[in-house]
Amino acid sequence: MFDPTNINLDILKKRAFNLRWATVPEGVIPLTAADPDFPSAPEIAEAIIRFTKDRYLSYGPPAGLPEFKESVARFFQEKRQVPANPAWLFPVDSAAFGIYLICKTFLKPGDEAIIFDPVDFLFRYSTETVGARAVTFPIPAGPMPVDFDRLESLVTTNTKMICLCNPLNPTGKVFTREELLKFGEIAVKNNLIILSDEIWSDIIYTPNVFTSIASLNEEIRNQTITVTGYSKSYGLAGLRIGAVMASNAAHYDLLFQASLHQSTIHGANVLSQVAALTALNECDDYLKGFVSHLQQMRDLTVAAFNDTPGFQCYLPEGCYVAFANITGTGKSSAEIRDILFNEGKVAIVPGLKEWFGDGAEGHIRLSFATSREILEEGLYRIKNTMGLI
Ligand SMILES: Cc1ncc(COP(=O)(O)O)c(C=O)c1O
Repeated sequence: MFDPTNINLDILKKRAFNLRWATVPEGVIPLTAADPDFPSAPEIAEAIIRFTKDRYLSYGPPAGLPEFKESVARFFQEKRQVPANPAWLFPVDSAAFGIYLICKTFLKPGDEAIIFDPVDFLFRYSTETVGARAVTFPIPAGPMPVDFDRLESLVTTNTKMICLCNPLNPTGKVFTREELLKFGEIAVKNNLIILSDEIWSDIIYTPNVFTSIASLNEEIRNQTITVTGYSKSYGLAGLRIGAVMASNAAHYDLLFQASLHQSTIHGANVLSQVAALTALNECDDYLKGFVSHLQQMRDLTVAAFNDTPGFQCYLPEGCYVAFANITGTGKSSAEIRDILFNEGKVAIVPGLKEWFGDGAEGHIRLSFATSREILEEGLYRIKNTMGLI
Protein backbone atom coordinates (compact mmCIF):
# COMPACT_ATOMS: atom_id res chain seq x y z
CA MET A 1 0.00 0.00 0.00
CA PHE A 2 2.76 2.46 0.88
CA ASP A 3 5.12 1.77 -1.98
CA PRO A 4 5.77 4.03 -4.97
CA THR A 5 3.60 2.00 -7.36
CA ASN A 6 0.65 3.25 -5.33
CA ILE A 7 1.38 6.92 -5.92
CA ASN A 8 -0.31 8.37 -9.00
CA LEU A 9 1.49 11.63 -9.74
CA ASP A 10 -0.74 12.40 -12.74
CA ILE A 11 -3.76 12.54 -10.43
CA LEU A 12 -1.92 14.37 -7.63
CA LYS A 13 -0.80 17.05 -10.11
CA LYS A 14 -4.47 17.71 -10.86
CA ARG A 15 -5.91 17.33 -7.37
CA ALA A 16 -3.35 18.02 -4.61
CA PHE A 17 -3.54 21.76 -3.83
CA ASN A 18 -2.51 23.67 -0.67
CA LEU A 19 1.16 24.17 -1.75
CA ARG A 20 1.40 20.65 -3.18
CA TRP A 21 1.68 18.86 -6.55
CA ALA A 22 -1.07 20.83 -8.33
CA THR A 23 0.50 24.16 -7.38
CA VAL A 24 4.22 23.73 -8.12
CA PRO A 25 6.01 23.88 -11.49
CA GLU A 26 6.75 20.56 -13.24
CA GLY A 27 9.89 18.99 -11.76
CA VAL A 28 9.52 20.42 -8.24
CA ILE A 29 8.93 17.94 -5.37
CA PRO A 30 6.50 19.49 -2.88
CA LEU A 31 7.29 18.25 0.65
CA THR A 32 5.08 21.03 2.00
CA ALA A 33 1.56 20.74 3.41
CA ALA A 34 1.00 17.67 5.59
CA ASP A 35 -1.20 15.68 3.23
CA PRO A 36 -0.17 12.17 2.17
CA ASP A 37 0.82 11.27 -1.39
CA PHE A 38 -0.84 7.86 -0.93
CA PRO A 39 -4.45 7.17 -1.92
CA SER A 40 -6.96 6.66 0.90
CA ALA A 41 -8.04 3.17 1.98
CA PRO A 42 -10.21 1.25 -0.55
CA GLU A 43 -12.83 0.60 2.15
CA ILE A 44 -13.55 4.34 2.22
CA ALA A 45 -14.15 4.61 -1.53
CA GLU A 46 -16.38 1.51 -1.39
CA ALA A 47 -18.47 2.95 1.45
CA ILE A 48 -18.95 6.25 -0.40
CA ILE A 49 -19.92 4.39 -3.58
CA ARG A 50 -22.42 2.18 -1.69
CA PHE A 51 -24.02 5.22 -0.08
CA THR A 52 -24.12 7.23 -3.33
CA LYS A 53 -25.52 4.35 -5.40
CA ASP A 54 -28.88 4.63 -3.62
CA ARG A 55 -29.05 8.14 -5.08
CA TYR A 56 -30.66 9.59 -1.94
CA LEU A 57 -28.53 12.46 -0.78
CA SER A 58 -31.04 14.02 1.60
CA TYR A 59 -30.36 16.37 4.50
CA GLY A 60 -28.65 14.57 7.37
CA PRO A 61 -29.31 15.23 11.07
CA PRO A 62 -27.87 18.65 12.05
CA ALA A 63 -25.89 17.06 14.90
CA GLY A 64 -24.48 14.35 12.65
CA LEU A 65 -25.33 10.83 11.52
CA PRO A 66 -25.90 8.57 14.57
CA GLU A 67 -23.37 6.06 13.14
CA PHE A 68 -20.78 8.83 12.92
CA LYS A 69 -21.37 10.00 16.49
CA GLU A 70 -21.26 6.44 17.82
CA SER A 71 -18.08 5.60 15.87
CA VAL A 72 -16.27 8.68 17.17
CA ALA A 73 -17.45 8.04 20.74
CA ARG A 74 -16.33 4.39 20.52
CA PHE A 75 -12.93 5.51 19.21
CA PHE A 76 -12.43 7.81 22.19
CA GLN A 77 -13.69 5.21 24.67
CA GLU A 78 -11.63 2.30 23.34
CA LYS A 79 -8.50 3.94 21.92
CA ARG A 80 -8.17 7.03 24.11
CA GLN A 81 -9.72 5.91 27.44
CA VAL A 82 -12.06 8.92 27.39
CA PRO A 83 -15.63 8.20 28.60
CA ALA A 84 -17.02 9.89 25.48
CA ASN A 85 -20.76 10.47 25.07
CA PRO A 86 -22.06 10.47 21.46
CA ALA A 87 -24.62 13.08 22.50
CA TRP A 88 -21.85 15.55 23.32
CA LEU A 89 -19.96 15.40 20.03
CA PHE A 90 -20.78 16.36 16.46
CA PRO A 91 -19.10 16.38 13.05
CA VAL A 92 -17.63 19.59 11.68
CA ASP A 93 -16.42 20.30 8.18
CA SER A 94 -12.74 20.08 9.22
CA ALA A 95 -10.58 20.25 12.31
CA ALA A 96 -9.71 23.77 11.14
CA PHE A 97 -13.36 24.81 11.50
CA GLY A 98 -13.50 22.96 14.83
CA ILE A 99 -10.66 25.08 16.22
CA TYR A 100 -12.34 28.25 15.01
CA LEU A 101 -15.69 27.14 16.42
CA ILE A 102 -14.25 26.48 19.87
CA CYS A 103 -12.65 29.95 19.83
CA LYS A 104 -15.91 31.54 18.63
CA THR A 105 -17.86 29.77 21.38
CA PHE A 106 -15.59 30.45 24.35
CA LEU A 107 -13.71 33.67 23.53
CA LYS A 108 -14.97 37.21 23.19
CA PRO A 109 -13.11 40.35 22.09
CA GLY A 110 -10.51 41.31 24.70
CA ASP A 111 -10.12 37.76 26.02
CA GLU A 112 -6.75 36.03 25.87
CA ALA A 113 -5.96 32.50 24.74
CA ILE A 114 -2.59 30.87 25.30
CA ILE A 115 -1.18 29.19 22.21
CA PHE A 116 2.07 27.29 21.76
CA ASP A 117 4.99 28.78 19.83
CA PRO A 118 5.77 27.34 17.35
CA VAL A 119 2.42 25.84 16.39
CA ASP A 120 0.19 25.54 13.34
CA PHE A 121 -1.14 28.96 12.23
CA LEU A 122 -4.78 27.91 12.81
CA PHE A 123 -4.59 28.67 16.54
CA ARG A 124 -3.48 32.29 16.17
CA TYR A 125 -5.76 32.78 13.17
CA SER A 126 -8.86 31.47 14.97
CA THR A 127 -8.16 33.34 18.22
CA GLU A 128 -7.62 36.63 16.43
CA THR A 129 -10.53 36.17 14.02
CA VAL A 130 -12.93 36.17 16.97
CA GLY A 131 -11.29 39.34 18.37
CA ALA A 132 -9.28 37.71 21.18
CA ARG A 133 -5.55 37.97 21.80
CA ALA A 134 -3.18 35.06 21.22
CA VAL A 135 -0.56 34.92 23.99
CA THR A 136 2.34 32.72 22.99
CA PHE A 137 3.90 30.07 25.20
CA PRO A 138 7.29 28.94 23.82
CA ILE A 139 7.83 25.20 23.45
CA PRO A 140 10.98 25.01 21.31
CA ALA A 141 11.91 21.86 19.40
CA GLY A 142 14.09 19.48 21.38
CA PRO A 143 14.27 17.75 24.73
CA MET A 144 14.06 20.81 27.04
CA PRO A 145 11.36 20.44 29.73
CA VAL A 146 8.14 22.44 29.35
CA ASP A 147 8.45 25.61 31.45
CA PHE A 148 5.23 25.50 33.49
CA ASP A 149 6.28 28.45 35.70
CA ARG A 150 6.43 30.57 32.58
CA LEU A 151 3.03 29.25 31.54
CA GLU A 152 1.50 30.25 34.89
CA SER A 153 3.05 33.70 34.58
CA LEU A 154 1.18 34.20 31.28
CA VAL A 155 -2.25 33.65 32.86
CA THR A 156 -4.11 36.91 33.58
CA THR A 157 -7.71 37.70 34.50
CA ASN A 158 -8.36 37.96 30.74
CA THR A 159 -7.10 34.44 29.99
CA LYS A 160 -10.00 32.19 29.07
CA MET A 161 -8.45 29.35 27.11
CA ILE A 162 -5.33 27.30 26.61
CA CYS A 163 -4.87 25.68 23.22
CA LEU A 164 -3.08 22.33 23.20
CA CYS A 165 -1.78 20.88 19.98
CA ASN A 166 -0.90 17.29 20.83
CA PRO A 167 1.13 15.97 19.04
CA LEU A 168 2.56 19.37 18.26
CA ASN A 169 2.71 20.41 14.62
CA PRO A 170 5.44 21.44 13.58
CA THR A 171 7.92 20.04 16.14
CA GLY A 172 6.34 16.59 16.48
CA LYS A 173 6.38 16.70 20.28
CA VAL A 174 4.06 14.21 22.00
CA PHE A 175 3.16 15.43 25.48
CA THR A 176 3.65 13.00 28.36
CA ARG A 177 0.93 12.16 30.84
CA GLU A 178 2.78 14.19 33.50
CA GLU A 179 2.99 17.25 31.26
CA LEU A 180 -0.70 16.99 30.42
CA LEU A 181 -1.56 16.73 34.11
CA LYS A 182 0.32 20.00 34.69
CA PHE A 183 -1.52 21.71 31.82
CA GLY A 184 -4.79 20.34 33.22
CA GLU A 185 -4.07 21.49 36.78
CA ILE A 186 -3.25 25.02 35.60
CA ALA A 187 -6.43 25.11 33.50
CA VAL A 188 -8.61 23.86 36.37
CA LYS A 189 -7.02 26.27 38.87
CA ASN A 190 -7.66 29.24 36.57
CA ASN A 191 -10.95 28.01 35.10
CA LEU A 192 -9.57 27.95 31.55
CA ILE A 193 -11.15 26.04 28.68
CA ILE A 194 -8.68 23.51 27.30
CA LEU A 195 -8.87 23.28 23.52
CA SER A 196 -7.20 19.94 22.76
CA ASP A 197 -6.40 19.48 19.08
CA GLU A 198 -5.68 15.78 18.62
CA ILE A 199 -5.79 15.53 14.83
CA TRP A 200 -2.27 14.06 14.84
CA SER A 201 -2.85 11.57 17.63
CA ASP A 202 -2.73 8.44 15.45
CA ILE A 203 0.70 9.32 14.08
CA ILE A 204 2.89 8.36 17.03
CA TYR A 205 6.31 6.68 16.79
CA THR A 206 7.44 4.01 19.23
CA PRO A 207 8.27 4.18 22.09
CA ASN A 208 6.19 7.35 22.54
CA VAL A 209 2.65 7.01 23.86
CA PHE A 210 -0.23 9.35 23.16
CA THR A 211 -2.52 10.48 25.98
CA SER A 212 -5.76 12.43 25.56
CA ILE A 213 -5.91 15.15 28.19
CA ALA A 214 -9.63 14.37 28.63
CA SER A 215 -8.69 10.88 29.84
CA LEU A 216 -6.82 12.15 32.91
CA ASN A 217 -9.60 12.91 35.39
CA GLU A 218 -13.09 14.34 35.58
CA GLU A 219 -12.07 17.82 36.69
CA ILE A 220 -9.71 18.24 33.74
CA ARG A 221 -12.14 16.55 31.33
CA ASN A 222 -14.86 19.02 32.31
CA GLN A 223 -12.72 21.94 31.12
CA THR A 224 -11.76 20.21 27.87
CA ILE A 225 -13.14 20.49 24.36
CA THR A 226 -11.43 18.01 22.04
CA VAL A 227 -11.16 18.58 18.31
CA THR A 228 -9.96 16.00 15.83
CA GLY A 229 -10.06 15.29 12.11
CA TYR A 230 -9.40 12.66 9.48
CA SER A 231 -7.13 14.50 7.03
CA LYS A 232 -3.83 13.31 8.51
CA SER A 233 -4.40 9.63 9.40
CA TYR A 234 -6.56 8.67 6.43
CA GLY A 235 -5.77 11.19 3.68
CA LEU A 236 -9.30 12.69 3.66
CA ALA A 237 -8.36 16.40 3.62
CA GLY A 238 -10.49 17.18 0.57
CA LEU A 239 -13.58 15.77 2.28
CA ARG A 240 -13.25 18.43 5.02
CA ILE A 241 -14.33 16.33 7.97
CA GLY A 242 -13.56 16.38 11.69
CA ALA A 243 -15.32 16.27 15.03
CA VAL A 244 -15.72 18.44 18.11
CA MET A 245 -16.35 16.78 21.46
CA ALA A 246 -17.43 18.35 24.75
CA SER A 247 -17.43 16.69 28.16
CA ASN A 248 -20.72 18.03 29.43
CA ALA A 249 -24.12 19.10 28.09
CA ALA A 250 -23.58 22.81 28.84
CA HIS A 251 -20.41 23.04 26.70
CA TYR A 252 -21.99 20.91 23.98
CA ASP A 253 -25.05 23.18 23.79
CA LEU A 254 -22.90 26.32 23.48
CA LEU A 255 -20.75 24.76 20.75
CA PHE A 256 -23.67 23.37 18.78
CA GLN A 257 -25.54 26.66 18.92
CA ALA A 258 -22.47 28.59 17.73
CA SER A 259 -21.91 26.07 14.91
CA LEU A 260 -25.12 27.16 13.09
CA HIS A 261 -25.62 23.50 12.12
CA GLN A 262 -29.23 23.57 13.36
CA SER A 263 -30.07 26.29 10.83
CA THR A 264 -28.38 24.34 7.94
CA ILE A 265 -26.15 27.38 7.30
CA HIS A 266 -23.23 25.16 8.24
CA GLY A 267 -22.90 21.40 8.62
CA ALA A 268 -20.82 18.36 7.73
CA ASN A 269 -21.46 16.62 4.41
CA VAL A 270 -23.03 13.16 4.87
CA LEU A 271 -20.59 11.50 2.43
CA SER A 272 -17.70 12.86 4.47
CA GLN A 273 -19.24 11.47 7.64
CA VAL A 274 -19.61 8.07 5.94
CA ALA A 275 -15.94 8.24 4.92
CA ALA A 276 -14.77 9.13 8.43
CA LEU A 277 -16.84 6.49 10.20
CA THR A 278 -15.58 3.88 7.72
CA ALA A 279 -12.03 5.02 8.45
CA LEU A 280 -12.63 4.60 12.18
CA ASN A 281 -14.37 1.22 11.89
CA GLU A 282 -12.64 -0.53 9.00
CA CYS A 283 -9.22 0.97 8.36
CA ASP A 284 -7.07 -0.07 11.33
CA ASP A 285 -4.74 -2.09 9.08
CA TYR A 286 -4.33 0.81 6.67
CA LEU A 287 -3.40 3.11 9.54
CA LYS A 288 -1.00 0.59 11.07
CA GLY A 289 0.77 0.15 7.73
CA PHE A 290 0.90 3.90 7.20
CA VAL A 291 2.47 4.62 10.62
CA SER A 292 5.00 1.83 10.17
CA HIS A 293 6.02 3.30 6.77
CA LEU A 294 6.15 6.79 8.29
CA GLN A 295 8.46 5.71 11.10
CA GLN A 296 11.00 4.59 8.48
CA MET A 297 10.55 7.84 6.52
CA ARG A 298 11.03 9.85 9.72
CA ASP A 299 14.32 8.13 10.49
CA LEU A 300 15.52 8.61 6.94
CA THR A 301 14.57 12.31 6.92
CA VAL A 302 16.20 13.14 10.24
CA ALA A 303 19.40 11.28 9.31
CA ALA A 304 19.56 13.15 5.98
CA PHE A 305 18.90 16.53 7.61
CA ASN A 306 21.62 15.95 10.19
CA ASP A 307 23.96 15.17 7.32
CA THR A 308 23.08 18.40 5.47
CA PRO A 309 25.47 21.35 5.94
CA GLY A 310 24.02 23.87 8.42
CA PHE A 311 20.96 21.74 9.31
CA GLN A 312 20.14 20.11 12.66
CA CYS A 313 16.98 18.14 13.38
CA TYR A 314 15.50 16.30 16.39
CA LEU A 315 13.50 13.10 15.91
CA PRO A 316 9.79 13.98 15.88
CA GLU A 317 7.87 11.79 18.34
CA GLY A 318 4.67 12.12 16.33
CA CYS A 319 3.26 13.86 13.18
CA TYR A 320 4.74 13.27 9.71
CA VAL A 321 6.74 16.46 9.56
CA ALA A 322 10.38 17.13 10.39
CA PHE A 323 11.32 20.56 11.73
CA ALA A 324 14.95 21.30 11.00
CA ASN A 325 16.98 24.08 12.59
CA ILE A 326 18.76 25.84 9.71
CA THR A 327 20.55 28.59 11.64
CA GLY A 328 23.88 26.89 10.88
CA THR A 329 23.47 27.97 7.24
CA GLY A 330 23.55 31.66 8.24
CA LYS A 331 20.38 32.19 6.18
CA SER A 332 16.76 32.88 7.08
CA SER A 333 14.08 30.25 6.59
CA ALA A 334 12.62 32.27 3.68
CA GLU A 335 16.04 32.37 2.01
CA ILE A 336 16.44 28.60 2.43
CA ARG A 337 12.93 28.11 1.01
CA ASP A 338 13.88 30.16 -2.07
CA ILE A 339 17.24 28.45 -2.56
CA LEU A 340 15.74 24.96 -2.26
CA PHE A 341 12.86 25.86 -4.56
CA ASN A 342 14.85 27.62 -7.27
CA GLU A 343 18.07 25.64 -7.24
CA GLY A 344 17.09 22.31 -5.65
CA LYS A 345 13.56 21.99 -7.11
CA VAL A 346 12.17 20.98 -3.72
CA ALA A 347 9.43 22.88 -1.88
CA ILE A 348 9.33 23.00 1.93
CA VAL A 349 7.50 25.28 4.40
CA PRO A 350 9.68 28.07 5.86
CA GLY A 351 9.45 28.84 9.60
CA LEU A 352 7.63 32.12 9.12
CA LYS A 353 5.38 33.72 11.73
CA GLU A 354 2.41 33.42 9.36
CA TRP A 355 2.76 29.62 9.34
CA PHE A 356 3.94 28.70 12.83
CA GLY A 357 4.61 31.82 14.95
CA ASP A 358 7.74 33.79 15.85
CA GLY A 359 9.42 30.77 17.48
CA ALA A 360 9.65 29.00 14.13
CA GLU A 361 12.23 31.35 12.55
CA GLY A 362 15.50 29.57 11.93
CA HIS A 363 13.64 26.40 10.95
CA ILE A 364 12.04 24.75 7.95
CA ARG A 365 9.33 22.08 7.96
CA LEU A 366 9.24 19.12 5.62
CA SER A 367 6.40 16.60 5.25
CA PHE A 368 7.63 13.03 4.74
CA ALA A 369 4.25 11.36 3.97
CA THR A 370 5.37 10.08 0.61
CA SER A 371 7.19 7.10 -0.86
CA ARG A 372 10.77 6.27 0.04
CA GLU A 373 11.78 7.01 -3.58
CA ILE A 374 10.25 10.49 -3.74
CA LEU A 375 11.52 11.36 -0.28
CA GLU A 376 15.06 10.13 -0.98
CA GLU A 377 15.17 12.21 -4.15
CA GLY A 378 13.90 15.29 -2.26
CA LEU A 379 16.40 14.83 0.56
CA TYR A 380 19.23 14.24 -1.91
CA ARG A 381 18.35 17.50 -3.68
CA ILE A 382 18.29 19.39 -0.37
CA LYS A 383 21.65 18.03 0.77
CA ASN A 384 23.20 18.59 -2.61
CA THR A 385 21.91 22.15 -2.93
CA MET A 386 23.03 23.09 0.59
CA GLY A 387 26.45 21.56 -0.10
CA LEU A 388 26.87 23.84 -3.10
CA ILE A 389 26.08 27.21 -1.55
C1 LIG B 1 -2.55 20.74 14.28
C2 LIG B 1 -3.53 20.80 13.16
N1 LIG B 1 -4.82 21.04 13.42
C3 LIG B 1 -5.74 21.11 12.44
C4 LIG B 1 -5.38 20.94 11.12
C5 LIG B 1 -6.43 21.07 10.06
O1 LIG B 1 -6.98 19.85 9.67
P1 LIG B 1 -8.25 19.79 8.71
O2 LIG B 1 -7.78 19.33 7.37
O3 LIG B 1 -9.19 18.78 9.33
O4 LIG B 1 -8.86 21.13 8.70
C6 LIG B 1 -4.04 20.69 10.80
C7 LIG B 1 -3.61 20.53 9.39
O5 LIG B 1 -2.46 20.66 9.06
C8 LIG B 1 -3.10 20.61 11.85
O6 LIG B 1 -1.79 20.36 11.61
